[in-house]
Formats: sequence, structure tokens, C-alpha cells
Amino acid sequence: MNNVNFGTYHHSTQEESDHIRSMVEKKVHSIFSKLYPISSALQILDAGCGLGFMSYLAATYYPQSFVTGYDNFNDESLKGSSLEKAIQNMKSLGLENRTKFKKHDLTESFDSEIEFDLVISNLVFHNMGNDRFKAYENVFDSLKEGGYFVIGDLFPENSKDMKFLLERSTLLMEQPVTGEGKWDLRLKTFLKGSLK
Ligand SMILES: C[S@@+](CC[C@H](N)C(=O)[O-])C[C@H]1O[C@@H](n2cnc3c(N)ncnc32)[C@H](O)[C@@H]1O
Repeated sequence: MNNVNFGTYHHSTQEESDHIRSMVEKKVHSIFSKLYPISSALQILDAGCGLGFMSYLAATYYPQSFVTGYDNFNDESLKGSSLEKAIQNMKSLGLENRTKFKKHDLTESFDSEIEFDLVISNLVFHNMGNDRFKAYENVFDSLKEGGYFVIGDLFPENSKDMKFLLERSTLLMEQPVTGEGKWDLRLKTFLKGSLK
């Protein structure tokens, strides 16, 4: 992990950000273990990838997978973030052949030829106001039927988000990550469609 820095979240220090990420990492591995076998060759999208934290978790857990990261790279919620730094992190981790990043606003249509097996995201949607619903819609359009959306977020208007998300998917799991302190970060896992 030398030379790798996934950045500092706003309203946070580097140490707090790294601590939050270490808690997310533990929970996300356990979630991944319930979704697909490790050997699966998955197409994965990291929505709001920042400097590639979730991309790194997914690409290392699923070594046959390919991860695409979208971010507009001009939002204040990750200090000093850039596309170049995200690519550099993946090079330092030896993941440059199984990851790619694109400058893209999540509220704009993804226009992707790939139907993703899994969409992952951490601490992105709560900062988007009502535009987040357009972004959620784009996530589900890009996800194959039966695919999964694993989202870590604060859900300040939880019932509104849940109503919207449950019209498109089934909630499989929900876990608290940080507990109700300064941040109440929760991880939710949705299945596109319904359980068989
Ligand atoms: C708090 S950071 C989280 C980054 C990364 N997921 C992580 O956990 O380290 C939120 C990220 O969402 C991105 N973001 C916010 N609004 C966006 C939008 N409308 N389109 C694309 N990316 C967006 C920001 O640029 C930022 O990189």
C-alpha cells in the first residue's frame, strides 16, 4: 500500500477517513462473500469512485473481475481528488490492467455498453440532493437483472431513498458501519429485481 492514498473526506481528517475506510473494508468483504464466488469474472462499476477505494476492494476480492470507476472529480467531498491520482493508485496496487476510470457525472446517462454484475458505491449519493434519484436510476439502468447494488451512505432522508430503491430492487442486507456518532454510515445491498 506504499504510495497509495485514497484521500480525505470533507468534514474529516486523513486519519478519520482511513479509519472509516478500514471499517467499510471489513464489512464489504463479508458482503461480497454472500454475492458471487471469488473466481467470478465480474463487470463491476464503482459509482463515485474518488481515488479508487471501493474499486481496490472489489478488484482484490474478485481477482478475475474488471472494475470501471465513474466520478466527476470536481466535487469537494474528497479533498484534492483527480482522475490522474486515481489511476496512479491503481498502478501502485498493480491493478491498472483490471481497472479503468472515467470522468462522468452520475446524474447523466451512463451510455455504457457493459451491463454490470455489481455496482458499488461509498459516501456519494447523500451529497447530491434530489439529483441522487436520477443517479440511482442510472445505476439500475446499467445493472443487469439479478445484479447487485452495494451502497455505503448516510441516508439522511432514508424513507424517501428506500421507497425509490425498493420500486426497482429488493433489499437483501443492511449493516451499520460506524454506528450513530458523527457519521451514521450504513451499507445496504440491493438485488435488481425480486428474489426467486
Ligand atoms: C466522499 S467521496 C467518496 C469517494 C470514494 N467512494 C471513497 O469512499 O473513498 C464522494 C465522491 O463522489 C463523487 N461525486 C459526487 N457527486 C458526483 C456526481 N454527480 N457524479 C460523479 N461523481 C460524484 C465526488 O467527486 C467524490 O469523489
